[in-house]
Amino acid sequence: MKIFLDTADIEEIRTVARWGILDGVTTNPTLFSKTSGMSYEDVLKEICSITSGPVSAEVVAEDVDGMLTEGRAFAKLAPNIVVKVPMSEEGLEAMSRFADEGIKTNCTLIFTANQGLLAAKAGASLLSPFVGRLDDINQDGMIVVRELAEIVAIHELDTEVLAASIRNPVHMTQAALAGAHVATLPFKVLKQMVRHPLTDSGITQFRSDWEKAREALAARDGGRKKEVAATATKPGE
Ligand code: G3P
Repeated sequence: MKIFLDTADIEEIRTVARWGILDGVTTNPTLFSKTSGMSYEDVLKEICSITSGPVSAEVVAEDVDGMLTEGRAFAKLAPNIVVKVPMSEEGLEAMSRFADEGIKTNCTLIFTANQGLLAAKAGASLLSPFVGRLDDINQDGMIVVRELAEIVAIHELDTEVLAASIRNPVHMTQAALAGAHVATLPFKVLKQMVRHPLTDSGITQFRSDWEKAREALAARDGGRKKEVAATATKPGE
């Protein structure tokens, strides 16, 4: 299963790339609005210099021509750019045009399996059901991930299910079990996945026992040296 980072924060991306587990990155206008000082294009180019995995760049136009113009410009930035297009009638048309042009797309804001199925038919290479936002309105978001993963498998569709709007480590486990091909996670959730209180206390215990063992050895060696020194300086011998 692939893990993408859901962020436009360059330092977060560098950190996770160093961990050796980064398969790609998803961005959106909200995530970009949290960065400062760089244009969206520069942020995307920088991200693409860190990872060779897919990097999703989202269009904001709502009409087909506007989506095509924005998406084509993104695609020119780097070979691993994937154009993120919202689910809508216009989005479907744009995704199908991008597919004809060989530009990969990630259909975003999917909330039903049917929306995902349509996006797959239009040629999207990634389908992004939003788990957390469905949970927010008292619907089980993971059902859409499971249904879509099944549909893709049954019909051997040439696309991947990317579990998005992941809010906590339990979502991640559930998405993996539901058959998502990819999950995109905020940095905070990835860090939560790394940590466990028993891992932390175990590390502290091992360190403390190691120090105690070294101190005991040092004390024993120190005692022996004193014995040798005392023997060597005995008067009259
Ligand atoms: O990948 C989509 C994600 O950024 C949306 O997350 O938490 O705003 O629903 P959220």
